[in-house]
Amino acid sequence: MEMTNQENEQKQILRFSRFNRILHIGMILSFMSLALTGMTLKFSYTSWAVFLSRMFGGFEFAGFIHRVAATIMFIIFFSHIFDLLKRKKREYGSMKNLLFGPNTMLPTKKDLRDFVDSIKWFLWLGPRPKYGKWTYWEKFDYFAVFWGMMVIGSTGLVLWFPEFFTKFIPGEFINVATIIHSDEALLATGFIFTVHFFNTHLRPEKFPMDICIFTGRVPLEEYKMDRPDDYQKLIESGELEKYLVEPYPEVVIRGIKIFGWIALSIGFFMVVWIIYAMIFAYK
Ligand code: HEM
Repeated sequence: MEMTNQENEQKQILRFSRFNRILHIGMILSFMSLALTGMTLKFSYTSWAVFLSRMFGGFEFAGFIHRVAATIMFIIFFSHIFDLLKRKKREYGSMKNLLFGPNTMLPTKKDLRDFVDSIKWFLWLGPRPKYGKWTYWEKFDYFAVFWGMMVIGSTGLVLWFPEFFTKFIPGEFINVATIIHSDEALLATGFIFTVHFFNTHLRPEKFPMDICIFTGRVPLEEYKMDRPDDYQKLIESGELEKYLVEPYPEVVIRGIKIFGWIALSIGFFMVVWIIYAMIFAYK
């Protein structure tokens, strides 16, 4: 049945499955907990660390929270891989299509072109690129999690189970693992709460917050402007209808916004704390 224009205006486009939205909320909660408890150790010489560690029930208990959150993060990571393999069969048909098909998360020539065109656009030297389903910065953020899990996850496990790991690796490596874990954690925290926050929430098109990772949906008109290439593809393939959904009620949106503001505020607070700790309180 043909939809009227007015009906279409109400419609939203589904961008993230319920499972992926749950995974991202889990990622926010576990990452925030890891970053807060970890930085409390790293910057233990600041008064904020003392305050936070009291809130966490002492440094010992903060270590316990760190380990629980790490376990949740590992579960989220492997659930995502498992879900991908399941969807490979159901949605993509083959590994080749998953990895190299039109909606791939791997960088493509178009991403390189979009990147160059974005720089030109920032300098008023060209139009806004016609971004597709996943932009180059989203792909970068996506793979940063893989890199982070390898580096932070593996060194974290070494710090968690030193007796076990020193059966295979020399004892000095525990010190090396601490430095790698600590520095990579600083990089990850700094990146997520500045670059990722800026790209997702603070860029003018989305300011002050983009809640689509929680609702999973974006108003059709907004999607048309933000991702013209994907919108065009969906129209041409006749697949658009498949992704059209109703918006959530206002009360749900309000709850989501409260959660979003809390998460964003904790992130910004952490950036200020890290800068303060490194510049003014460093010991
Ligand atoms: C995902 C798996 C992770 C595991 C298994 C893990 C495990 C650990 C362990 C065992 C410690 C030693 C401190 C203690 O005994 O309580 C530690 C320290 C720390 N962790 Fe993690 N962690 C993980 C992820 C993260 C993440 C994602 C961050 C931050 C974004 C982080 C930040 C830190 C920091 C800053 C320290 C203190 C290092 C120092 O002494 O300078 N960790 N972690």
